[in-house]
Amino acid sequence: MKNYKVGIIGATGMVGQRLLTLLEGHPWFSVEVLAASSKSAGKSFEEAVFGRWAMAKPIPEKIKCMKVYDAEKDAEFIASSVDFVFCAINMDKAATKALEEKYAKLECPVMSNNSANRGVFDVPMIIPEINPEHMEVVSAQKKRLGTKRGFISVKSNCSIQSYVPALHPLMKFGVKNVLACTYQAISGAGKNFERWPEMVDNLIPYIGGEEEKSENEPLKIWGKIEDGKIISASSPAITTQCLRVPVSDGHTAAVFVSFDKKPTIDEIKKAWAEYRGEPQILELPSAPKQFLTYFEEPDRPQAKLDRDLENGMGVSIGRLRADSQYDYKFVSLSHNTIRGAAGGNILMAELYAAKGYFDR
Ligand SMILES: NC(=O)c1ccc[n+]([C@@H]2O[C@H](COP(=O)([O-])OP(=O)(O)OC[C@H]3O[C@@H](n4cnc5c(N)ncnc54)[C@H](OP(=O)(O)O)[C@@H]3O)[C@@H](O)[C@H]2O)c1
Repeated sequence: MKNYKVGIIGATGMVGQRLLTLLEGHPWFSVEVLAASSKSAGKSFEEAVFGRWAMAKPIPEKIKCMKVYDAEKDAEFIASSVDFVFCAINMDKAATKALEEKYAKLECPVMSNNSANRGVFDVPMIIPEINPEHMEVVSAQKKRLGTKRGFISVKSNCSIQSYVPALHPLMKFGVKNVLACTYQAISGAGKNFERWPEMVDNLIPYIGGEEEKSENEPLKIWGKIEDGKIISASSPAITTQCLRVPVSDGHTAAVFVSFDKKPTIDEIKKAWAEYRGEPQILELPSAPKQFLTYFEEPDRPQAKLDRDLENGMGVSIGRLRADSQYDYKFVSLSHNTIRGAAGGNILMAELYAAKGYFDR
């Protein structure tokens, strides 16, 4: 059985807390080191998160008394104590990029939740069911960084995980134009209703930088590796609007799509039902058995009812029908802090583990 020691950089934050909760009892990964900012460093984890533990489950027993290290000052100690780190920090982009590279150069692979390295041409942005072949660009990245085993891999933004999984099995029909409006939960901003009471009975039609990410990141995901670089796909054409809605967890997307070779409704439903990615084939510990689930009921998927499908790792789809301007329209939903953040990050790490990238 695989057994890797893991560090969590940003363990005290919203994503860090979710990582700790999901990794409790993980069959392959054991959390050995926690790190955050200098404000938390030196405290026990329980002290460091006093008054801000936001998960429904209590702090895992093993974690409570663990010391929190300083992610920057203690980097050498952390990198030498574990097989790889998860990273979910709230710092400016340049500082995040530098910190992630520092860990990679200390020969410690980085599984990142942050956006700072997402645009870098040899940093794979992985949705494990969709583009596992992008892991191959890691060898070019190691060459650039001058490392033997250290590298950075990122997960995509949470918004695109509400609609890209549903579009991916349809690419064989020549997806040409996509319009996606996302209705995004407040946990995506690291908030709940107590901390963001203005969101009760409200909708905010703006999420800074989100539409740009939602239109560009899918093209990197669907890109090809050429000469050690990921070259983004040039199609489909994607336009988005991203809205913040009063939902605690679960990003929903209303999607409109046109094709070069228009499939029938039955062909689309069959493509969704039959789709299996590498995580399902390899039976990775966090993989949903069924990645995409289509609901025939006209009022599904609903955030509250369906976000926890397959432990929050499944994507639910509904309301597929013909459209008067595009070929079809449908609605899809994914859990933004599980599939879209910590859970997707863990699944990505499981894929790297299964392929031997963390071995010494
Ligand atoms: N929330 C989501 O649903 C979501 C989804 C996908 C991706 N993300 C991304 O994940 C990252 C973390 O998000 P979050 O919501 O978890 O943020 P958060 O709740 O604000 O937590 C931020 C974490 O970063 C740490 N930190 C801040 N400054 C630091 C420094 N100078 N050095 C080391 N650690 C530092 C904090 O430590 P202290 O506690 O010591 O301050 C804390 O552990 C961000 O890049 C975000 O964009 C978030």
